[in-house]
Amino acid sequence: MNAPAPQGTGLTPPSFVKNPKLLAWVADMVALCKPAAVHWCDGSDAEYHMLCQRLVDAGTFKQLNPIKRPNSFLACSDPSDVARVEDRTYICSEHKENAGPTNNWMAPAEMRQTLQPLFDGCMAGRTMYVVPFSMGPLGSPIAHIGIELSDSAYVAVNMKIMTRMGQAVYEVLGTDGEFVPCVHSVGAPLQAGQKDVRWPCNSTKYIVHYPETREIWSYGSGYGGNALLGKKCFALRIASNMGRDQGWLAEHMLILGVTNPEGQKFHVAAAFPSACGKTNFAMLIPPAGMPGWKVTTIGDDIAWIKPSADGRLRAINPEAGYFGVAPGTNTLTNPNCMASLDRDVIFTNVGLTDDGDVWWEGMSEAPAHCIDWQGKDWTPAIAKETGAKAAHPNARFTVAATNNPALDSAWDDPEGVAIDAFIFGGRRSTTVPLVTQARNWVEGVYMAATMGSETTAAAAGQQGVVRRDPFAMLPFMGYHMSDYFQHWLQLGHKLQSGGAKLPAIFCVNWFRKDEAGRFVWPGYGENMRVLKWMIDRVQGKATGSENVFGVSPQFDELNWAGLDFTPAQFHTVTHVDKAAWVQELKLHEELFEQLAHHLPPELPATQRAIAQRLEA
Ligand code: OXD
Ligand code: MN
Repeated sequence: MNAPAPQGTGLTPPSFVKNPKLLAWVADMVALCKPAAVHWCDGSDAEYHMLCQRLVDAGTFKQLNPIKRPNSFLACSDPSDVARVEDRTYICSEHKENAGPTNNWMAPAEMRQTLQPLFDGCMAGRTMYVVPFSMGPLGSPIAHIGIELSDSAYVAVNMKIMTRMGQAVYEVLGTDGEFVPCVHSVGAPLQAGQKDVRWPCNSTKYIVHYPETREIWSYGSGYGGNALLGKKCFALRIASNMGRDQGWLAEHMLILGVTNPEGQKFHVAAAFPSACGKTNFAMLIPPAGMPGWKVTTIGDDIAWIKPSADGRLRAINPEAGYFGVAPGTNTLTNPNCMASLDRDVIFTNVGLTDDGDVWWEGMSEAPAHCIDWQGKDWTPAIAKETGAKAAHPNARFTVAATNNPALDSAWDDPEGVAIDAFIFGGRRSTTVPLVTQARNWVEGVYMAATMGSETTAAAAGQQGVVRRDPFAMLPFMGYHMSDYFQHWLQLGHKLQSGGAKLPAIFCVNWFRKDEAGRFVWPGYGENMRVLKWMIDRVQGKATGSENVFGVSPQFDELNWAGLDFTPAQFHTVTHVDKAAWVQELKLHEELFEQLAHHLPPELPATQRAIAQRLEA
């Protein structure tokens, strides 16, 4: 993946790096990983172009047709390295109970012993890239800094898009600033004269977090959240620990601005499991029947949320780009996203068309021929016969937020935006209604804690199985899930007792199906109708009707202009089936049994209240 670098280059750090702790750590890691060279990233465009060219020369990148897709590249990974590896992801807290039953755990000392021989010499023959990055606007009181050491140029260029990466980070860090050390290796040392492969990786994989010392060590994978360590590893698993200790929230949430026809603006943070349309929702274009409404994007995946002096929760997007799922994205499902992808994109694991452009399932009419993500010929006839996909279902694009035509003017504001509402959503074919508002904070935390969702291709493993995914954080929680519920409850309690108005909490499900297995709710831009109802509720304009878990809209409270959606269809997506909910509550109970240790008593109490209302 890296062109061989002259032995020993970069071992003397550049003069702009002045942090002794950082210098000592890099020296230690060089001694351990034994790279052939060290490249201290400055984050410049010239450096980006040089590294992309290096990746083209190594065969990792294909430059796409510069007329059709300027400054864009396609990378195709090893077929064994295509998604986050949850079963290889560890939270190595000193005590097992602090990782909780939903995380893999190993004692830190044992894990260090396991990793030591793997990292010893792991970068031989390769360049170690020193990647300084800020999660959040540089110098923001909500932001934090990380340094990733990686032997993958693919990681370095992706980090340039996904974070505020470069020399300016060292200025914020100064001589004594704090940073989260992140070590990443593809785990494929090169012997002298050994030819590299297009996508080096290792069948042994470890994605390791030490929450107490705030360290990340990743070995064996070059893909997405396994390798771009600012994303899930830092911004969620490590940051959730920082948030618990320091009184703030690190969440798997998009952040959007929504402006009504009167020009009033609101901010919403929404949690959905991976590959459930967060990017689509964050870039939503309201339907023609709702003139004057506007949605703008602050973030599409992660929110860091800190209480400000006035008691309001203010959120930033710690990332600076989108690493989104390509399949299914098109000019109808997400026109803003498609416009973002016109240029300056790194695509991973999509198909390559004969005219040097990209194609994925659901993008447009299928080309007569393309090369699939595994380098094989792909035609509609082959697909029909064998089921082969041009793009892997977890194929991705990496693109800067600044390419997004719907980017919010405050997206880079160091103060963040004040959150008016939280939304929690899962992918459920049955049971969970289109939208419900919690009547209070505790009910909202209950809804979020008991969320279930059908699994998707974003993680390796079986797809389509319903699993509990509390707060859409199951794969990203850096400590005991019950303590996290408690943290949410405590934060709400503290803010409320200080006189603050807490954000409203809603639970949504865009994915309910009818008896024939078809989605009933049209989704995408039409979700604006539900979003408007939520904003109406925030403003006290919609009454709704109470059900056993909260408040849901009546049919005529939603704006239906321009959409033919019947009361019968509305019933299909909103009705609460008593038998299904009795069953559902049993699953909540199973979750609570699993999390019994430290489980806040408010949650089983809320469950008992729902059960009683169901019985009544
Ligand atoms: C992601 C994920 O890549 O959630 O955002 O898997
Ligand atoms: Mn995500």
